[in-house]
Amino acid sequence: MGFCLALAWTLLVGAWTPLGAQNPISWEVQRFDGWYNNLMEHRWGSKGSRLQRLVPASYADGVYQPLGEPHLPNPRDLSNTISRGPAGLASLRNRTVLGVFFGYHVLSDLVSVETPGCPAEFLNIRIPPGDPMFDPDQHGDVVLPFQRSRWDPETGRSPSNPRDPANQVTGWLDGSAIYGSSHSWSDALRSFSGGQLASGPDPAFPRDSQNPLLMWAAPDPATGQNGPRGLYAFGAERGNREPFLQALGLLWFRYHNLWAQRLARQHPDWEDEELFQHARKRVIATYQNIAVYEWLPSFLQKTPPEYTGYRPFLDPSISSEFVAASEQFLSTMVPPGVYMRNASCHFQGVINRNSSVSRALRVCNSYWSREHPSLQSAEDVDALLLGMASQIAEREDHVLVEDVRGTGGHSCPVQPGLILARAAPWGTPGEPPGPWTSVQHHRP
Ligand SMILES: *[C@@H]1O[C@H](CO)[C@@H](O)[C@H](O)[C@H]1NC(C)=O
Ligand SMILES: *[C@@H]1O[C@H](CO)[C@@H](O)[C@H](O)[C@H]1NC(C)=O
Ligand SMILES: *[C@@H]1O[C@H](CO)[C@@H](O)[C@H](O)[C@H]1NC(C)=O
Repeated sequence: MGFCLALAWTLLVGAWTPLGAQNPISWEVQRFDGWYNNLMEHRWGSKGSRLQRLVPASYADGVYQPLGEPHLPNPRDLSNTISRGPAGLASLRNRTVLGVFFGYHVLSDLVSVETPGCPAEFLNIRIPPGDPMFDPDQHGDVVLPFQRSRWDPETGRSPSNPRDPANQVTGWLDGSAIYGSSHSWSDALRSFSGGQLASGPDPAFPRDSQNPLLMWAAPDPATGQNGPRGLYAFGAERGNREPFLQALGLLWFRYHNLWAQRLARQHPDWEDEELFQHARKRVIATYQNIAVYEWLPSFLQKTPPEYTGYRPFLDPSISSEFVAASEQFLSTMVPPGVYMRNASCHFQGVINRNSSVSRALRVCNSYWSREHPSLQSAEDVDALLLGMASQIAEREDHVLVEDVRGTGGHSCPVQPGLILARAAPWGTPGEPPGPWTSVQHHRP
């Protein structure tokens, strides 16, 4: 066993250090897939490893069948009941919209459980008749199709080994949302020249996600527009979910390329690989520093304990309870609209697709939007980030604004269906329903 691992290590790492070839990188390059971060438990925190459970699984058959009605309440009913309430109440801690979406960005770096499983397994979520959004005409037969996520194939075989969802990204805070969770993913983002991440026609933006297998490309529910055009290639599969998350991906993209350019000026003899890995190392360190020492303390109102050294016995796996609770917590703070401000902090009008101007980017019309007229240049993205940084988020409570909940409202002609019980398909007991679904819906 030890020999096999040593051999695998040599084969895997060998690609970086071919014997005899001159190796310009003298340090151990961090892998993209999270393997071997822990030298005892090589798999811990790696892409594809299973989520932890804090409480025992609760499946209908004890193995993998989700519990549903009548044992559990209808997810849509539950969602509407617990998350309805007034919008416009401000965060009690003055948390900003930027803080909320930075949280989503950090989450996308740590966990992804949205990739559908194979073979596909569908669950239909029954919509209560007369639902103002999905069944206004009281047909009574409307369902939201929901695909179960990927699981660890070594689980789900018996009551003593119930199904566990698998994390499709590394569980480490290692910049996988910027560079991808595999070597091939990172390669697909690189230009292989000057250590840069590949940009599109405008150097401030990555190229479009050409590889449909890489980036998730849901249709824009507002226009029906499909395909990868207008969606960027990021390290996070769902980094294009809305312009607010995209803005953070664009920020790290620009920061990487800025460092690659700086290093290239300082070290004219360095080649692409050296420039790329050095820039990556700096970007990840900066990102970790912001996340752990700036964002987390301000977000939790707690200072993390002093770092006392590496603890090899600590399993870094994310728990399914944490995923459901943190997403739910963040979504209660999403506002119905996000402002943009220019460099002197004046509010900027937002140009809609129909050329009218509104005061803010409406959230319900922004999911999976492509090429928004107000987000065409690097300055526009700056204006959005500035707006997010100076806007107080919604209150941390049980209320989801209707843009997130997916309920009626004439100001939003089309809304994504965002109301689903995520907990039951994972066999996690006692969790509130999560708001996200892999299927987008047009308003009937
Ligand atoms: C939030 O901001 C307001 C206005 O600046 C201030 O009065 C209040 O004390 C702040 N609250 C917290 C918890 O920082
Ligand atoms: C920001 O917008 C305001 C009003 O639209 C304008 O007066 C100001 O010059 C702008 N500032 C910059 C830096 O463009
Ligand atoms: C244009 O779009 C905005 C937001 O999508 C909407 O509020 C407005 O009513 C539309 N205006 C016209 C003239 O259609």
